[in-house]
Amino acid sequence: MNILLLGSGGREHALAWKIAQSAKCSKLFIAPGNAGTGAVGENVAIGADDFDRLKDFAVERKVDMVVVGPEDPLVKGIYDAFKDDVRTARIPVIGPSKAGAVLEGSKDFAKAFMKRHRIPTAAYQTFDGTTLEEGMKFLETLHAPYVLKADGLAAGKGVLIVPTLEEARKELREMLGGMFGNASAKVVIEEFLSGIECSVFVLTDGTHYQILPEAKDYKRIGEHDTGLNTGGMGSVSPVPFATAEWMKKVEERIIRPTVEGLKSEHIDYKGFIFFGLINVDGDPMVIEYNCRMGDPETESVMLRLESDLVDLFEGVAEGDLDKRTVVFDPRSAVCVMLVSGGYPEAYVKGYPVSGLDRIKDSVVFHSGTALKDGKVVTAGGRVIAVSSYGENKEEALRKSFAGAQEIDFKDKYFRRDIGQDL
Ligand code: AMP
Ligand code: GLY
Repeated sequence: MNILLLGSGGREHALAWKIAQSAKCSKLFIAPGNAGTGAVGENVAIGADDFDRLKDFAVERKVDMVVVGPEDPLVKGIYDAFKDDVRTARIPVIGPSKAGAVLEGSKDFAKAFMKRHRIPTAAYQTFDGTTLEEGMKFLETLHAPYVLKADGLAAGKGVLIVPTLEEARKELREMLGGMFGNASAKVVIEEFLSGIECSVFVLTDGTHYQILPEAKDYKRIGEHDTGLNTGGMGSVSPVPFATAEWMKKVEERIIRPTVEGLKSEHIDYKGFIFFGLINVDGDPMVIEYNCRMGDPETESVMLRLESDLVDLFEGVAEGDLDKRTVVFDPRSAVCVMLVSGGYPEAYVKGYPVSGLDRIKDSVVFHSGTALKDGKVVTAGGRVIAVSSYGENKEEALRKSFAGAQEIDFKDKYFRRDIGQDL
């Protein structure tokens, strides 16, 4: 099978690494990819949201399957774009339709969907420019801290958690006034939930689903969860509190009603569902849905997936995912993210990365890298994910931290406390 994978981050390198191991994959293309994906497949210089050129490429190079890494092309409707073109209609796209991607693309839609299907989530209301005063009144009924979310995609920055009512009122006014452009034309205000978070991943063919290894990610830039939010500074799998008993609650109360809800609402969904969960006194509740895998969770999860990922994708495409098996590697897997100094604010790109060839005990996934004169240079905020196996998370972390020391570039930074809270 010829497979075209879309995206350019660490998640895509991890997916590419796993896809390339499959005997069912004869040729792997990554558009646009990065310096790491180029080592496991062939990078193609087409943007992940340039649908016309992607379709032309898929036809010319006889692509048999498209796997979508990031949310952007999904929310813009890549699934539908392939389906609606006679030349590409037969090529399965692993990822939901535009209607399904709204689970991530609109927080208001996701909340209303959960309410319709009685899926546990924080109490909420949605407001727009015409209901600002009602929004102010709703805030008064809540307790601090206050959670305000831009309805649309805002590059991971659209959620504000503020300590006082006064600030919440000010932020609500500013969000509805265009703080995140059109993404905050509507704002979801919700009850604050207190607990530890966990990311649960499912692959679905629209009827059946398979649960993949869960993971915890570390979002803040500073140690002990301080400072600004980032795309993710590391991940750990398995998550100790995600016991069989807890996962049973997740499956019964959250996963099954979500998959059945999508089907009952005739939403075409064949791909990953990412459940951002929080454990509130032993009960899982949904913080958010994403329509794709997590980054950097994928950089741990792919290490723990023993099964052939392409076989699972075939199950998604053919609608017989229930006949495929998912086997987890019993070992722990972790990833530690090396980032550019200054990230998630301004940082410099183009620094040479050294030490990559010295890493023997870890799997190195490139996140933001490029090749310059044949050498790997930094090309993003998140640069390299150092992923490792261990008999337990401590052993895996020791290997990843050793690798994180060995790999170097100017102003490198990483969190040394990944996994310590578990
Ligand atoms: P989201 O983009 O919806 O995942 O929100 C970003 C982050 O904000 C989440 O990962 C949580 O850490 C936090 N968060 C979102 N909603 C809530 C909530 N209702 N209660 C507590 N924390 C929240
Ligand atoms: N790690 C969180 C995300 O991918 O959104």
